[in-house]
Amino acid sequence: ATTLGASAAEKGRYFGAAIAAGKLNDSNYVTILNREFNSVTPENEMKWDATEPSRGSFSYANADRIVSHARSRGMSVRGHTLAWHSQQPGWAQSLSGSTLRSAMVNHITQVATHFRGQIYTWDVVNEAFADGGGGGRRDSNLQRTGNDWIEVAFRTARAADPGAKLCYNDYNTDGINPKSTGIYNMVADFKARGVPIDCVGFQSHLTNSVPGDYQANLQRFANLGVDVQITELDIAGSNQANVYASVVNSCLAVSRCNGLTVWGIRDSDSWRTGQNPLLFDGSGNKKAAYTATLNALNAG
Ligand code: G3I
Repeated sequence: ATTLGASAAEKGRYFGAAIAAGKLNDSNYVTILNREFNSVTPENEMKWDATEPSRGSFSYANADRIVSHARSRGMSVRGHTLAWHSQQPGWAQSLSGSTLRSAMVNHITQVATHFRGQIYTWDVVNEAFADGGGGGRRDSNLQRTGNDWIEVAFRTARAADPGAKLCYNDYNTDGINPKSTGIYNMVADFKARGVPIDCVGFQSHLTNSVPGDYQANLQRFANLGVDVQITELDIAGSNQANVYASVVNSCLAVSRCNGLTVWGIRDSDSWRTGQNPLLFDGSGNKKAAYTATLNALNAG
């Protein structure tokens, strides 16, 4: 096929982009979005600071705009994210212990209920593991409420929106390393104990190369009985086009890798300022990385 979304769909997958509500009136941006992508992730609009700016008072206008734009055009939505140590509203940052735990549970219940039936996959918990060699949890106010906070978040999300797939999402987990192995062990434990988890997201913020065991890492998670998704793909560096193709090939080689999302549309939309890590240039022209990605989706 001739677009990313249609080509991925021919392989039983989706191809998505992170988008910003504030850009939905930029016609260059929206033209590319509507032509190329069949899934979206709100880049910031569903985060805790955006959806519950003061405790118990919810604000959904920007997230609703994205969901409505997507669903009216047949695009699926990845909800991002229900529980994360970053981008918490100030009131939550100052809570701890059982008060913070209840606030988290209420937040997940309210947000997942608001969007019930409209979200294909939720990133229920984002970035809860530490970098480095230990393979353990990241210290955070949520972690300090007790090690069971992640499973409580997943059970709460399942109860509020039983039809949504529930993902754990993280970065620097693209190869087999202590961090990804820590997550692997958590997922295995959740599956063994019946804690609801359906998928794992691999952010894949890369520069010039992808780990040699990227596909093997995706496959070992898939073998646990969860889907895997590439959730925040962007690739800096001069080897960009080749690395995009390699990431697509790895996903296509893993039957449970059911979708890829790039973290923005044009280079000018990227959080990686000045690194030009996306598929379209600042004017919306297709880059070599776009062609490599499309060709990889269509090969085989
Ligand atoms: O909306 C405010 C605006 O009102 C204010 O004037 C401006 C001044 O700084 O800030 C604006 O908020 C910014 C927001 O993006 C919206 O543009 C925040 O400062 C800025 O920190 C925030 O950055 C986002 C970042 O997450 C925050 O952690 C990026 O856009 C977003 O791409 C990035 O996405 C994360 C994923 O959620 C999780 N994985 C890593 C990924 C990249 O960091």
